[in-house]
Amino acid sequence: MDQTAVKQHLSAVPLFSRLSKKLLHTLAVTAADKTYNPGDVIVRQGEKALGFYLVVEGKVDVEKAGKIVATLGPGQFFGEMALLDEEPRTASVKAATRSRCLVVYSWEFWASVGKDPEALRSLLKESVRRLRGSTPAPED
Ligand code: CMP
Repeated sequence: MDQTAVKQHLSAVPLFSRLSKKLLHTLAVTAADKTYNPGDVIVRQGEKALGFYLVVEGKVDVEKAGKIVATLGPGQFFGEMALLDEEPRTASVKAATRSRCLVVYSWEFWASVGKDPEALRSLLKESVRRLRGSTPAPED
């Protein structure tokens, strides 16, 4: 994928849409473009986090303790949780189909999204939504 295509993908994601042209350019230059085959483990639960992933093509399954809790597709992201709390990955993410992701490494992530309060807000909103979804309702 050329840099213009990478920039288009990044700016189409609400999270990145308000970033300055300069930051978007830096992200586009530093993001890694990775392709995965069905079944490939993209991130593994319990491992140290290196980056944030944006799905560009295909579908990926989020698995917790071997159970699929979500399936993500183009325009969706994963890997934000361990970057936020600097703890190990909360789930494994596997390619469900042949897929492609842009990987933004943590230092670039904090230098871009991390500097934009609105982007951080929508990132947190999505993380909390995910956490709510996987938290069992209290018993009464
Ligand atoms: P992280 O913990 O860094 O790595 C695994 C990722 O899976 C996690 O960040 C989230 O991006 C994603 N994830 C974890 N739980 C859920 C969920 N319930 N729904 C969607 N995505 C999730």
